[in-house]
Amino acid sequence: MTGKICGTGSYVPPHVMDNDDMAKLVDTNDEWIRERTGIARRHVAEQETTSFMAGQAALRAVEQSGIAPEEIDMIIVATSSSETIYPCAACEVQKTIGAVNAAGYDLNAACTGFVLGFNAAQAYISAGMCRTVLVVGAESMSHMIDWTDRSTCILFGDGAGAVLLRAQEGAPVWTAAHSDGKKGPALTGLSRHRKDWEKEGEEKESYIHMDGQAVFKFAVRKVPEIIEEILEKSGVSADEIDYFILHQANRRIIEAVAKRLKIDISRFPMDLEEYANTSAATVPILLDEMNRQGMFRKGHKLILAGFGAGLTWAGCLFEW
Ligand code: COA
Repeated sequence: MTGKICGTGSYVPPHVMDNDDMAKLVDTNDEWIRERTGIARRHVAEQETTSFMAGQAALRAVEQSGIAPEEIDMIIVATSSSETIYPCAACEVQKTIGAVNAAGYDLNAACTGFVLGFNAAQAYISAGMCRTVLVVGAESMSHMIDWTDRSTCILFGDGAGAVLLRAQEGAPVWTAAHSDGKKGPALTGLSRHRKDWEKEGEEKESYIHMDGQAVFKFAVRKVPEIIEEILEKSGVSADEIDYFILHQANRRIIEAVAKRLKIDISRFPMDLEEYANTSAATVPILLDEMNRQGMFRKGHKLILAGFGAGLTWAGCLFEW
């Protein structure tokens, strides 16, 4: 058994900030941001919380699937920016959609979280532990960034995406995942309340800190590697893949991955111009947009790949 996607949904806050709006906050400009990242706008939560956005995306996925919420066995919410540590966002989603028979938990692997959650859902289904699993990626990155740091604040946005998976006979799902904890300092989101920092007397904020060039190099090397690893495991050739749906961090990263793999960029869909990097939410938001535009056909072969803080990276190959 494998998990087939039978519904997708997404939610982004209506409030939009374009690059000119960012230029009113920090010393930057539209041309620099577009050229270095491909980002033009980002949606920013005003009243919406992470679990609210997760719940809205989930409602849309469930509605599209036609499956009753009571049939959902498991809810996994990938997030590193939930408004509460507990109750976890997955339990909030359970409440919102009325999935009274589901178990739920949150998964924190930054921008890689959704793909890891998707792979976990596939494992539950193929092991016979679950029949119907909801996987959500949801983030309020606007709470995590330092709005005075031009090197990071321009990169991120808020939103949520969800997929509902149902057990079916079908082509196998191939997965791979890696972490490199030694490289963790390249991208950190620090908690204000760590006792050891207080002892050291250091002032640490809960903001994102990043060595942009180190993260860029990591992504451009590791994403092609993991795609090749999955292709090799599966015996599927790159030519047979209809779409490579990558974490939407930066257009230049995606272009460099396509170039390294010698695959035409047209098979790497992107929506980061509109939403920027919504961390764990980028992949399911893009999946939902493509699905609602009718871009997927039964039997289409897709590769998902995520990468981010940890450092972490993961991927999978499955058929629509
Ligand atoms: N507007 C204008 N100038 C900016 C700026 C901004 N928003 N941010 C940084 N700069 C400046 C820098 O201060 C630096 O100026 P200097 O040369 O006078 O010192 C100059 O632009 C070049 O900075 P640099 O950091 O070398 O730029 P870059 O080409 O590496 O681009 C990133 C920066 C962040 C866009 C790029 O490194 C990147 O995309 N990295 C990956 C980040 C990412 O995707 N992270 C999430 C992964 S999950």
